[in-house]
Amino acid sequence: MRHLFIVDPLPQLLVNKDTSVVIMREASQRGHEVFTAQVEYLDVGEGGRPRVRMHPTQVRDADPWFETSPSQYAHLQDFDVIWMRTDPPYDMNYFYATHLLDLAPASTLVLNDPKGLREVGEKLFVLHFPDICPDTLISRQIDELLAFRDKLGGEMVIKPLGGCGGVGVFHLTSEDRNVRAILEMATRDGAEYQVAQRYIPEVRNGDKRIILLDGEPIGAVLRVPAGGESRANFHAGGRALRAELTPRDREICARIGPALREHGIFFAGIDVIGDWLTEINVTSPTGVQEINALDGVRLEAQILDGVEKKLRDKRGE
Ligand SMILES: Nc1ncnc2c1ncn2[C@@H]1O[C@H](COP(=O)(O)OP(=O)(O)O)[C@@H](O)[C@H]1O
Ligand SMILES: [Mg+2]
Repeated sequence: MRHLFIVDPLPQLLVNKDTSVVIMREASQRGHEVFTAQVEYLDVGEGGRPRVRMHPTQVRDADPWFETSPSQYAHLQDFDVIWMRTDPPYDMNYFYATHLLDLAPASTLVLNDPKGLREVGEKLFVLHFPDICPDTLISRQIDELLAFRDKLGGEMVIKPLGGCGGVGVFHLTSEDRNVRAILEMATRDGAEYQVAQRYIPEVRNGDKRIILLDGEPIGAVLRVPAGGESRANFHAGGRALRAELTPRDREICARIGPALREHGIFFAGIDVIGDWLTEINVTSPTGVQEINALDGVRLEAQILDGVEKKLRDKRGE
């Protein structure tokens, strides 16, 4: 089986943290071939055929963890599985890349489905489930955002629509005299939307990342923010703690699972704070290595089993 991983530059992937790394390693241990590319090398060549300049890649138990051969062009049809795992920002180039991936033939499995990557906005999709997500306002009007904070009792979180890793996430309170200046910067004077959300105080106990495979939860980890920090993301220094799935977590997964399957979101990572669903990560969810370490599991084996089955089903084998 031939896997193409469209990822950020390999030297940027942390060998002991990154989910793509363990999926690549598992594929390679199964005797599959691994190829890697950066999204900017995805294009359409002569004859309208989608192609990519990629590197045959060996995954090793050494430092560095990879070895790449010189780049070469391949057509998307040359791969059995294409993993689109580029990190946000979700910008126009990302959007266009999903259209190029749509040109892959039916025999190639693209994960997540490019159509799903267009339909399921990471910060927006939760709004389809208003009863399980916190009060949310999406606006680029500074006065509207301020009024929402006041309606919530003087406290809210704002975040950009297309970000990740806690970048641009602020906890705003009414005591803070910088709020308007922060909103001016965050919206770029009204040019960009912000998500404003009710602040959930239980975040001090952690933000739970639940990994879903084809709409079913397969593991979870709690990320606890560092002291003096609002953001629980691992990128922002969040600490990983073992987590069980509560009945409420299972209820949330059961609500969104069918919609994820319907949109071809095979691999997702949702964020649950207290009883509330705050985000559905579909572009390059992470957390697998932390869950493996805390639970003594190897989720990547389950993930690859799922991929092999999905490919067989797709090809009617
Ligand atoms: N509604 C909220 N209440 C409290 N904290 C929040 C809320 N939303 C986000 N946060 C904090 O900000 C962090 C990042 O927010 P998130 O919505 O997951 O965006 P991303 O991870 O894509 O940057 C969370 O881990 C959490 O610490
Ligand atoms: Mg998050």
